[in-house]
Amino acid sequence: TQALAETLVLNADAALDVKSGKLITPATLIIEDNRIVSIGKPTKKALPADAKVIDLSGHTLLPGLFDMHVHLTSDAHVHGYKRLQRTTQRAAITGVMNARRTLDAGFTSVRNLGAAGYADIALRDAIYDGDVPGPRIFAAGPSLGITGGHCDNNLLTHEHKVVAEGVADGPWAVRAKVRENIKYGADVIKYCATGGVLSKGTKVGAQQYSLEEMQALVDEAHLRGLTVAAHAHGTEGIKSAIKAGVDSVEHVSFLDDDAILLAKKQGTYFSMDIYNTEYILSEGEKAGILAESLDKERVVGGTQRESFRRAVKAGVNMVFGSDAGVYPHGDNGKQFSRMVKFGMSELQALQAATINAATLLKRADQLGSLDAGKLADVIAVKGNPLKDISTMENVPLVIKDGKIEVNKL
Ligand code: ARG
Repeated sequence: TQALAETLVLNADAALDVKSGKLITPATLIIEDNRIVSIGKPTKKALPADAKVIDLSGHTLLPGLFDMHVHLTSDAHVHGYKRLQRTTQRAAITGVMNARRTLDAGFTSVRNLGAAGYADIALRDAIYDGDVPGPRIFAAGPSLGITGGHCDNNLLTHEHKVVAEGVADGPWAVRAKVRENIKYGADVIKYCATGGVLSKGTKVGAQQYSLEEMQALVDEAHLRGLTVAAHAHGTEGIKSAIKAGVDSVEHVSFLDDDAILLAKKQGTYFSMDIYNTEYILSEGEKAGILAESLDKERVVGGTQRESFRRAVKAGVNMVFGSDAGVYPHGDNGKQFSRMVKFGMSELQALQAATINAATLLKRADQLGSLDAGKLADVIAVKGNPLKDISTMENVPLVIKDGKIEVNKL
């Protein structure tokens, strides 16, 4: 015998079709088990007697949000040398806490771009098994990078012989490292294509990895059906990453017209963490961020925001990526208002965090919009986010996979 489906009915003032940008007003969305079965104007259609009905007057329904760049196992209050005190095991527990906070903020999917000890993969699996609450995680495992690069750990002197797990030099070594990450469960490959702000002794403008190494890395990942995300601030590193065929570039601080043209031609996505700078410059020192990193941030932050404006204007594919973990998890939604401030329409910012993200992940058949047949990842916010984007900072109802995870109505 077949169990009867559980039915959930959401009656809201509106629902946003992120693909067309149109609002359905008023809207009724019906969920059976973990699928959306219908969305549209309220109907007279008879519902099962035991259907659970939620009144969402004054609210707008949206697809569950995606943050395409997080580090769930990182604590924003623990940076620089303080991080040397944290074991992988401790970080995994931090990840459990941050997974809950991320879900509470309305983010039902995240891409975790780098974690030591495959802690993000353990967390992904624990959430999938229902042991702990959290978003769907698309996990990278250890980020790949050159010796001494942004994805290495350069805090200690040579006597200590500290080398980050993802370090690999040379085309065959990077292929082997990609294979190893896949062996232990990675969904996506992350690597560092330039220096970074928070790493010791790296230059944000300088490329890391030769084009040849990047091409080998991307080829290996693509052969195996994985997408690739490249950390890149400097112009040459951004361009080399795009030429090598990466699926997304992270940060993208120093852009030029050439890089924009290349990205448009290749369909590369940009994931730009333009809220991050506010936290780093106000709270970073207390959290242990190095003085040299704060100096780098003073150069990167402003330029990145101008680059964001240019990329949006040029029509580059954009996704929402925050680098939460550098700043506190749960504050992810604060980036929406900055995306609008620096050149996006409200709709574009919402698309970046929904349908564009699902498309980049190659999951748009199942996720990223409120369509019948898709998985029921649904949130409700107060009022109309197309008129007031700051409403995205407070998400009173979060449904993931048909299950109510947050209800603060
Ligand atoms: N993880 C990045 C890095 O260390 C953070 C950059 C933050 N700054 C910014 N303006 N987005 O490079």
